[in-house]
Order: sequence, then structure tokens, then C-alpha cells
Amino acid sequence: MLIAPSILSADFANLQKDIEDICSSGCDLVHVDVMDGHFVPNLTIGPVVVSSVAKVATKPLDIHLMVENNTFFVELFAPLKPKYLSFHIEEEKHPHRLAQKIRSYGISPAIVLNPHTPPQCLEYLLAEIDMVLLMSVNPGFGGQSFIDSAIPKIKELDIMRKRLNPNCLIEVDGGVNDKNAPLLREAGADVLVAGSYIFSQSDRKKAIESLRV
Ligand code: DX5
Ligand code: ZN
Repeated sequence: MLIAPSILSADFANLQKDIEDICSSGCDLVHVDVMDGHFVPNLTIGPVVVSSVAKVATKPLDIHLMVENNTFFVELFAPLKPKYLSFHIEEEKHPHRLAQKIRSYGISPAIVLNPHTPPQCLEYLLAEIDMVLLMSVNPGFGGQSFIDSAIPKIKELDIMRKRLNPNCLIEVDGGVNDKNAPLLREAGADVLVAGSYIFSQSDRKKAIESLRV
């Protein structure tokens, strides 16, 4: 199980310290939530701040776009060379083309599904991408409660990816904690994003390990 702490719950006045802390505490990816105030009712950080994040992070970046106009933001963040760059399918008319564009930069394309979006929409896309990010809360904020319907959805997606692209990872984002982590693993998740669960604890190493079930 890979663990990707979401820096949305970090202390933005001490971002360097928090990033160094999670990286030295054994996280696998640094999850960065980019929100534009349009696709979601919240506004976070742009490429200026994320390039500073990239300089201090010793683990690869996993950038989660929650924006309108995906292509504009992909072009903005591609020069920062994240490992994964994910966009919401609900906001994209040409997801196949955009996934190919992300890959042309040498970045792994990932597609995000909101809680209401069925995995079947990926039937003709799974072969093109390296990861699916399933939202287990409505995007926009940290600290929300896990939506239980994410579990059967992971199971459905797991069956689909075994058929269409066994190397494609399943990432889960929202309300993840040590109680639901074993269920997520069992359902087929490979990467867990956790914001408030990890950053609310002073011992980040212990928090990260408690999710690695
Ligand atoms: C929500 C973000 C998440 C958020 C998760 O829109 O995509 O990455 O930081 O926060 P928690 O783990 O607190 O639910
Ligand atoms: Zn996220």
C-alpha cells in the first residue's frame, strides 16, 4: 500500500517543515490539491507555491487538479514534473486526448472520479492511464467523512482494471483513516491519500505506518 499525505491539511505557514516531516516519515508520494474556486468551492495553490513544494519534497508529487479548463492547468503544472497528474473526468470533454498529452510530457496520467461517477465511464480510457483516483468525499475540502459507497466502487474498478490494464493503480482520496484503510486494501486500493488523519497527529511516521495495512 502506498501512502500519499495531502498537504491541504499541512500548516501553510510552515510548509517546508511539514513536507520534510512527511518525506522523512516514509510517505511514498506528496499529494497536492489544486483547486480553482470554480470546479470546487475552494481555492488553493498554483505553480509558484507548488514549485517551492517540489524543491523541498524528497518524494514524487501527485498533483490532483480540481479545476475548470484542465488543459490550461496541465500545461501550467507539467514543467514541475510531478509523477502523477490527475484531472476530473466530470470536467473534461476529451479525457483520452488529455491523458495522452500528459504522457507526452513524461508524466503518468491519472483520472479522478467524483463520488457519483460510475467506474464504467473508464471502459475506453483505462488502457491509457496509470492511475484512477476515486473520491471518497466530495472534492474541495479536507476533514470530511468517508462516503461508504466508495468501497463497492473500488471493487468494481478492481475487476475492470484486471481485465483492461492490470498495471493501473487505484488511489482513494477523502476521509481515509486507520479504521477504513484495511477495508480499502481489501477492496483493491493501492494508494491511500490522507490529509487530516496524518497532519492531526504529531507522530507522522506512526500515522503513515498505521495506514500501510
Ligand atoms: C479533497 C482533497 C483531498 C483532501 C483529503 O478535495 O482532494 O486530498 O485533502 O483530506 P482528508 O484526508 O482530510 O479527507
Ligand atoms: Zn486530493
